[in-house]
Amino acid sequence: MTWKQFFSSSIGKKITVALTGLFLILFLIIHAGVNSAIFLNDGGESYNVYAHFMSHNWILRFLEVGLFAGFIIHIVQALIVWRQNKLARPVGYAVNKKNKNSTWYSRSMGLMGTLILLFLIMHISHFFIGTKVALYSGDKPHNLYEEMLEIFSNGFIVLLYMIGLVALFWHLIHGFQSAFQTLGINHKKYTPVIKAIGVAYTVIIIALFALMPLSIYFGWIK
Ligand code: HEM
Repeated sequence: MTWKQFFSSSIGKKITVALTGLFLILFLIIHAGVNSAIFLNDGGESYNVYAHFMSHNWILRFLEVGLFAGFIIHIVQALIVWRQNKLARPVGYAVNKKNKNSTWYSRSMGLMGTLILLFLIMHISHFFIGTKVALYSGDKPHNLYEEMLEIFSNGFIVLLYMIGLVALFWHLIHGFQSAFQTLGINHKKYTPVIKAIGVAYTVIIIALFALMPLSIYFGWIK
């Protein structure tokens, strides 16, 4: 099978979605880990050092291109698979016993994915674009911590972040184990372990991310 045949086949697309999904899962660990430096409550001193390193190291800047490619490939391939599945069954199931045919979150992957995309557009416009413009134009680097304090002082924005994180929660809790299933790792002994790791990962990552805007908004960190 050539690469072209692989990418145009249904299984090839599913495998691409699974692999890029696992790559994004790893990115979220690093992102949540670095951002957790704000919990040191040292006025953003440690966080700004890490953020400066992350945005100035050329290897990481190169990887950033891979990160954005990963996001785009994941979204585009997932949308194509979703559309193909819909076209393959245009009239729907004759008997749509919702809870029998699929679980709620597997049916809502499309909706959750769209909410996460909207969240990402808002998030990139908050934190990424200005920082990069300053970096490449040689302007004074942004104080990302100060930017966080300003953005998360707005209750409405904090609420939008919480909605985005709820969507990401459902997306990850289903997507984590689903990625392994697509890759053919479906075993009586290992699948329950993978599911448990997926749930633990999702709860920890989402709790960390949710605590960031909340602790700033409620003044727990300053
Ligand atoms: C809610 C807590 C979050 C906070 C406080 C936060 C904060 C930040 C900050 C400050 C940046 C800019 C870093 C830089 O330019 O060096 C950034 C970038 C980014 N964030 Fe987040 N983030 C959060 C959640 C998320 C989530 C849940 C996702 C993905 C679903 C995400 C995806 C990204 C991406 C793709 C970038 C740009 C790439 C990068 O700079 O590494 N973030 N975030």
